[in-house]
Amino acid sequence: MKYGVFFLCLLSVAIMAASPSAVRGKNGMVASRSALASTVGMEIMKKGGNAIDAAVATGFALAVTYPSAGNIGGGGFMVVRLANGKVETLDFREVAPAAASRDMYLDGEGNVVKGLSTRSHKAIGVPGSVDGLLEVLSKHGSLSRQEVLAPAIKLARDGFVLNEDLAEQFKNQHRFMKQYPASMAQFSKDGVPFVAGDLWKQPDLANTLERIAKEGRDGFYKGKTADLIVAEMKNSGGLISHEDLANYRSKWRAPVKGTYRDHTIWTMPPPSSGGVLLVQMLNMLEPHKIGEMGYGSAAVVHLMIEAQRRAYADRAEHLGDPDYYKVPVEMLTSKEYARKRFADMDPEKASDSDLIGAGEVPAESMETTHYSVMDARGNAVACTTTLNHGYGSRIVASGAGFLLNNEMDDFSVKANTFNSYRLLGGVANEIQPGKRMLSSMTPTIITRDDLVVLVTGSPGGSTIINTVFQVVLNVVDHKMDLSDAVALPRFHSQWKPNRVVFEPHCFSPDTLSILKLKGHKELTEARWRLGDANSIVFKDGYLWGMSDPRNTGGASGY
Ligand code: DON
Repeated sequence: MKYGVFFLCLLSVAIMAASPSAVRGKNGMVASRSALASTVGMEIMKKGGNAIDAAVATGFALAVTYPSAGNIGGGGFMVVRLANGKVETLDFREVAPAAASRDMYLDGEGNVVKGLSTRSHKAIGVPGSVDGLLEVLSKHGSLSRQEVLAPAIKLARDGFVLNEDLAEQFKNQHRFMKQYPASMAQFSKDGVPFVAGDLWKQPDLANTLERIAKEGRDGFYKGKTADLIVAEMKNSGGLISHEDLANYRSKWRAPVKGTYRDHTIWTMPPPSSGGVLLVQMLNMLEPHKIGEMGYGSAAVVHLMIEAQRRAYADRAEHLGDPDYYKVPVEMLTSKEYARKRFADMDPEKASDSDLIGAGEVPAESMETTHYSVMDARGNAVACTTTLNHGYGSRIVASGAGFLLNNEMDDFSVKANTFNSYRLLGGVANEIQPGKRMLSSMTPTIITRDDLVVLVTGSPGGSTIINTVFQVVLNVVDHKMDLSDAVALPRFHSQWKPNRVVFEPHCFSPDTLSILKLKGHKELTEARWRLGDANSIVFKDGYLWGMSDPRNTGGASGY
């Protein structure tokens, strides 16, 4: 009984932290999908760390407290804005193992083998998260590796009390995990589901994190952790070798930079498609008076769908890993290209996805998580990280205590065949050894007059880009407070399939009927929530942090 009350108290603290309203702070702010992880980041800043230290500590903490997408067995992207105004991006996306090949997911007749790129050891790309987090820490952090990893190690070693959200998620995963004993050992009590209030400890993960704290990247990409990953592969047909792990390197890349009205957009370049598409869509909308036309009006929604149709068509044709395929980033993000690409947009009539195709460019040329961090010095981090699907491949590396991704499905496994987000692709995104699979992750920082005004991003597969697009329009054009900008219902369309999916209450009945009259097809209410845009704005001298109320999470500031 005494313990029951104790756990209930802890649980209610966790629930109270998941406030639907924005949290206000002066000195530092973290917004993430896990209240515990946000608090870890905030405490690091209170100790004197900067936003980069806090982002790294939050990233490792999420690997413990939000295993669906927080990870050390996956990858991600980070946009970092430093107090001196410089913006850099870090690509820690997974890569295809050296033994991967273009047709590795096809059978003898050239058909896609169902599940091979999502639910098998062959689905796993070489993880990038550990290298990425350590790289940004050593370049821009101010605290030691041991200091930023300590809270995550403690949460894994001593455990934390499961809330309803996580207990329910674990139970739902059992049907996918039951063939993997190490996964069941970690996510159940000998096969019996955890319930809210249980203390959840992850000793193997604590040991792996300790090796990383002690040895740096070698604690993951070499030695015992690498041996455990490779053993997991060898036992079950996976491709990742010791060489793949030792060779993995995250990469600093110049941000995609755009302007929208009087704001500057700093976002992720390829191998994510997110930044290019976001800037492209904003460019298409800029000549239109979006604010005056009004939030949720059929006229604005029509323009947005038409922009989405064209941008996603370009994604399928032109976007891939820039180290393997020449992506015309400058051209796709130019105002001139947007003007031409949108010239055939008819304000009265939906265009036909089958006729839109990709824009001409000259020859020369099911879970993720996003967290935002800012400090009072003007440092800001937007980071989106993932295992791809929720809980990735569902395969825990036996003895190492962490889940491995199923990111290989983000490649185009066969030309013009839908992947699990119903995205199409071709040569630009075909599988090659060492190549990064195309992403939609869109971590974004927006500045105005050299001040950070918005830090945002989201999970949601192909819907990510549109979630960020809508948060940006809500803040810049519709002048919403952060809580409304994040909370209000969203919609998604992506060229093909030619349909518009929307959250409940997104469109009024008359907006819906006008959209139908204009010729938009398959307007369907979504059966799931679109995105989880944990964001921060700086306004009226305060940092405002918002954990997306669609899910249990938390913002922590001081
Ligand atoms: O990189 C990508 O675009 C995908 N792997 C992201 C997956 C995702 O967002 C799933 N979350 N809901």
